[in-house]
Amino acid sequence: TDRIFSGIQPTGTPHLGNYLGAIQNWVNLQEKYNSVLYSIMDLHSLTMPKEPAVLRQNILDTTAAILACGIDPKKCFLFRQSLVPEHTELAWILGCLTNVPRLLRLPQWKMKCAGQNNDGNVGLLTYPVLQAADILLYKSTHVPVGEDQVLHLELAQDIAQHFNKKYGEFFPVPKAILSTTKKIKSLRDPTVKMSKSDPQKLATVNVADSPEEIVLKFRKAVTDFTSEVTYDPSSRPGVSNLVSIHAAVTGLSIEEVLHQAVGLDTAHYKMVVAESVIQKFTPIRNEIKKLQEDKTYLIKILETGAEKAKELATPIYQEVRRLVGFQ
Ligand code: TYM
Repeated sequence: TDRIFSGIQPTGTPHLGNYLGAIQNWVNLQEKYNSVLYSIMDLHSLTMPKEPAVLRQNILDTTAAILACGIDPKKCFLFRQSLVPEHTELAWILGCLTNVPRLLRLPQWKMKCAGQNNDGNVGLLTYPVLQAADILLYKSTHVPVGEDQVLHLELAQDIAQHFNKKYGEFFPVPKAILSTTKKIKSLRDPTVKMSKSDPQKLATVNVADSPEEIVLKFRKAVTDFTSEVTYDPSSRPGVSNLVSIHAAVTGLSIEEVLHQAVGLDTAHYKMVVAESVIQKFTPIRNEIKKLQEDKTYLIKILETGAEKAKELATPIYQEVRRLVGFQ
């Protein structure tokens, strides 16, 4: 049977890339499938250590944002990863089936550690193994993610196959579900993805940004020296990123959006896109504020979700223990 699993790191509120690359899909999928799990990946976020108080707050803010975006705890299990310790236990077992050079070749490790000072922590290296455990612990079949997670998913597929070969058919090989906006670019540099860790504040639009902030960020968006609005991601990545964003937040096709932009120069068009994003995010922003006032509710959602997730995980993990010879 089909089971959807995905997760997000609690790094404050999600951004436009998270929203269009993943969360919007999550909302659609909870309507279509009856076994759906979404998780706040607090274990993963410890790979970039933060003050405990900041992490604690980020977990609640991310939860509020996910709910405000339309995730409905009646239609899915929304839970905190570290409340289901089987994630870490399975990660250990899967880590023993994973080859270190393979992990060393993954771009996230290379970018964050190997390049500069070579001082990455063990968590950063084994991060994708924990991610494989997240997915396989529930025998998940489909994983809605943005493009930057595809290599991690391929590792999870390989680990599943390796396990099945060694211990007998057990895990389904999970498939990625990508959205048409699988890679939203930075507004300051359209050759790189929009990212929470971008030091340039104007590069990333957050779902909780005020209309003024959204206008400013789009006004300063880097495009090129052609004033016409066209869609050609390889030769005009900046404008094309705006067109993709515009289409995704309005639900229109690229052609329809381009049709609306006829006669506009890029400076004017940026304001049209900003307006469409404001339209989409204003109700979300208001809902986030409301939810943030009720910490007890947010904590309760994550705990209840974890209890249900644990019920699914326990028999699967018990079977893994038996298969590997612990029982
Ligand atoms: P994270 O928290 O970085 O991002 C959450 C989701 O947002 C997507 N995303 C983007 N999509 C399009 N354009 C962008 N610029 C962009 N930036 C981020 C990501 O692809 C992701 O789907 N390792 C994961 C969290 C994780 C996970 C898992 C996901 C842990 N375990 C198991 C799925 C299954 C991460 O750091 O996502």
